[in-house]
Amino acid sequence: MADCARSMVSRWEEQVASHGGQVVIELSSQFEELTADVMSHTAFGSSYAEGKQVFMALKELQFIAFSSLLSVQIPGSRYFPTKKNLRVWRLDKKVRSTLMEIINNRLAAKEKAGGYGDDLLGLMLEACAPPELGTKGQPQLLSMDEIIDECKTFFFAGQETTSHLLTWTMFLLSTHPEWQEKLREEAVRECGGGDDDQLPTDVMLGKLKLLNLFLLETLRLYSPVPMIRRRTRAPVEMGGVTVPGGTILTFPIATMHRDEEVWGADAGEFDPMRFDGCRGGGGAKAALLSFSVGPRACIGQNFAMVESRAVVAAILRRFKLSLWPEYVHAPTDVITLRPKHGLPMIVTGVHA
Ligand code: HEM
Repeated sequence: MADCARSMVSRWEEQVASHGGQVVIELSSQFEELTADVMSHTAFGSSYAEGKQVFMALKELQFIAFSSLLSVQIPGSRYFPTKKNLRVWRLDKKVRSTLMEIINNRLAAKEKAGGYGDDLLGLMLEACAPPELGTKGQPQLLSMDEIIDECKTFFFAGQETTSHLLTWTMFLLSTHPEWQEKLREEAVRECGGGDDDQLPTDVMLGKLKLLNLFLLETLRLYSPVPMIRRRTRAPVEMGGVTVPGGTILTFPIATMHRDEEVWGADAGEFDPMRFDGCRGGGGAKAALLSFSVGPRACIGQNFAMVESRAVVAAILRRFKLSLWPEYVHAPTDVITLRPKHGLPMIVTGVHA
């Protein structure tokens, strides 16, 4: 994660230098690219370049699926060889064949490499054929199709969401320059200045306490997943109302995160310190629903928080950020909460 963040900030440094010390960069697209990079590296390790191609194909498939949501669906039309369907079939085939190739290479290299590897794919292959069950005739825990589906799920669930968290964090840092300064001091103190090429360790990232509070407050005000749904399995009593079984309930996270009854009269204000344990922030953490709660809560929440700390620290150690004057604030809910017109920022070297 830290390595991917360093590559991104190095590119920014070149841009800043070649534009006389200051440049406008649209951050949301930068983070889309970065989070795809991080996911490809953690999921596929050394095969990350091929993995990234898979993710790019999935991204296009997701785009086609969402752009079709509002169009009228003629029954059976998904089997017609239209231009769009042909593209979908081609992308689907590419995703499958590339993943199969990566997986087959891993299986072939297992003996020589002494295992399947310690990335997500390696862990899934271990689960698929653990040593004690991996001999012929023993049941597989995950089929090849399930492994392929898991790869898709991790990308869909973890890439865009984390990218939006980073984008909104940068937005709030630019509107709260005093926090930007505080977090920069903390990042330099715990991870070193940006001049050295040192990558922060997990221990260093774990010490970024103020940054953690800042990320939690960002999640509260700009939850990347603004609503979730659940279906009741049986009739259930909720707040004096009996909800029949089989009902779909929508939890409007974005609205609930600004509820004064839960968060207090300053629910609409930006205040990361509400999550500070010393100030009784335990209740605040329990009310935060950005990663959902319970048995189906987000499996990647620690992943997302560590990644965000690594990226924000890498940026703050090297740059100051301020909002481009022509930025238009328009958070838009397209399944995830994104800035409709992107996030253009003026990026300046920290020593400028
Ligand atoms: C800021 C970033 C993230 C946010 C806000 C987020 C939010 C959520 C939410 C709200 C859910 C529950 C959805 C529901 O039940 O309807 C969820 C589930 C899930 N998330 Fe995340 N997520 C993030 C990052 C990640 C990452 C980085 C990964 C993978 C590395 C990931 C993997 C998953 C998976 C696999 C599930 C399904 C879990 C299950 O159903 O048991 N998420 N996420």
